[in-house]
Amino acid sequence: MRRIFIVIIAATVFAGSCAGSPPEVPVGADGTADAVLVVGREVFGNSCKRCHGASGGGGSGPRLHGDDFDDEFPDVEALVDVIRSGRNQMPSFSSSLTEEQLDAVARYIREVL
Ligand code: HEC
Repeated sequence: MRRIFIVIIAATVFAGSCAGSPPEVPVGADGTADAVLVVGREVFGNSCKRCHGASGGGGSGPRLHGDDFDDEFPDVEALVDVIRSGRNQMPSFSSSLTEEQLDAVARYIREVL
């Protein structure tokens, strides 16, 4: 009995931490998730996750949250610029993402991750 319990706990923790999908957009006061952030999550999952980790915790690319990150990118525009132009090993997304998608993924990083 105890063993089954441990297996269930392990499976739950595993599913939560390693499922590999970016965190859901929280539902707002009106009961719906911000549509722009939902687009941002989709873009993140398709284009960024493989290097920056499902929750932006880092991988081959750096972590996308924390104090240093907030200092480096105090506003959304600075963030959009680096995503649009790329930097060193970070590819440019100017031709593969629209301006709406760039804004959406930048907002998702700042507001959800
Ligand atoms: C092929 C791997 C790869 C992909 C895909 C990728 N990145 Fe990056 N990213 C990197 C690397 C490596 C860096 C560090 C660049 C440098 O040397 O400054 C970086 C840097 C960044 C930075 C600056 C971080 C900082 O602390 O200075 C941001 C913001 C960023 N990436 C966002 C994104 C977003 C958003 C996407 C998806 C649209 C994305 N990246 C996709 C590899 C990647």
